[in-house]
Amino acid sequence: MEEHLTVGRVAELAGVSVRTLHHYDEIGLLEPSTRTLAGHRAYSAGDVQRLREVLAYRRLGFGLREIAALVDDPATDAVAHLRRLRGLLVDQRDRAAAMVTAIDRELEARARGIRTTPEEQLKAFGAHLYDAIGSAYPATRRTEPRIAARMWEALGDARTVLNVGAGTGSYEPPDRVVTAVEPSAVMRAQRPVGAAPCVAAAAESLPFDDKSFDAAMAVSTVHHWRDPVAGLREMRRVARRVVVFTYDADDTGWRQRFWLTRDYLPEFADLLVGWPSLADLTHAIGGRAEPLLVPWDCADGFFEAYWRRPEAYLDEHVRRAVSVWTRVGPQAERRAVSALREDLSSGRWAERNRDLVALDTAELGLRLLVA
Ligand SMILES: C[S@@+](CC[C@H](N)C(=O)[O-])C[C@H]1O[C@@H](n2cnc3c(N)ncnc32)[C@H](O)[C@@H]1O
Repeated sequence: MEEHLTVGRVAELAGVSVRTLHHYDEIGLLEPSTRTLAGHRAYSAGDVQRLREVLAYRRLGFGLREIAALVDDPATDAVAHLRRLRGLLVDQRDRAAAMVTAIDRELEARARGIRTTPEEQLKAFGAHLYDAIGSAYPATRRTEPRIAARMWEALGDARTVLNVGAGTGSYEPPDRVVTAVEPSAVMRAQRPVGAAPCVAAAAESLPFDDKSFDAAMAVSTVHHWRDPVAGLREMRRVARRVVVFTYDADDTGWRQRFWLTRDYLPEFADLLVGWPSLADLTHAIGGRAEPLLVPWDCADGFFEAYWRRPEAYLDEHVRRAVSVWTRVGPQAERRAVSALREDLSSGRWAERNRDLVALDTAELGLRLLVA
């Protein structure tokens, strides 16, 4: 016979009161599937799973009526709920990180006697990550010609190209008809004059008909999407060919090889927890993955770009243009940077990483997905 838990035990495990569970039962949100002989509520594994979904949506701020509609949706199974919840929680974490950044900025400004405007103060609360950090982006982020060449070759003879998560327009091929998609107003506003037209939308719901483009591309953006698999499926839907520059989160080898994550910023691994596998990502577009090596003098200042130029990570401009530093939080950032600074001046970094000097490229988990 299936094991059931008493209302008291469920309340204890879930960290809610028995009264809350009674209330959920009374309003029909979570009715325990059976009663004990004495007439007490008894919860099955299925009931507990439903409770977990209810509590997670509750923590995300949904109202009970909205939650009922979400958990009763017959089109959403347990895995789909977990994926949706994960995406919402990541979004919440990124917004919190964006707020910390905005508050730090305000504290700094106040310390220098500068008052932020009410408009600036409010913006911090609605901030999406790239609306908070995007203005620092163009300082070091630009097209790396060797990576661009690989991507443009993979685009084949595509005439019309959709660039999803386009940011300020890096990697957009100059000789094709490009349409960009970018949700952050701050990023859109920084696109150069004459750049391809840009639509305010997100990858998960592209406002285009099926097969409207010869190809769709995405660069350094999939790891920011609320639901990467849904976004990649959308790209596949609207385009005949898909080319994506992303990361292999499963390959823990490169995180060990990359001294920055191994020796200074182990918190990076937390950002990848629950991230879809490379197999899931390639499956979503029905394609294959090829390694992308990072040249030692990479022109695009993404996180791994300075693997042979460690001093670069001491530069605030370099860090502010890479979301990882905001996402790990100011404490981890300060600790990592000061440890690196010390090791660079003591010669310890050079001692530990002397093999790197002989390399012109490094395999740091970057992948080109092509379908
Ligand atoms: C690291 S930037 C990359 C920008 C550009 N592709 C490049 O290579 O410079 C990541 C971009 O993804 C965008 N982004 C975040 N969530 C997104 C989503 N759900 N759909 C599409 N783009 C998204 C951000 O606003 C940001 O501009």
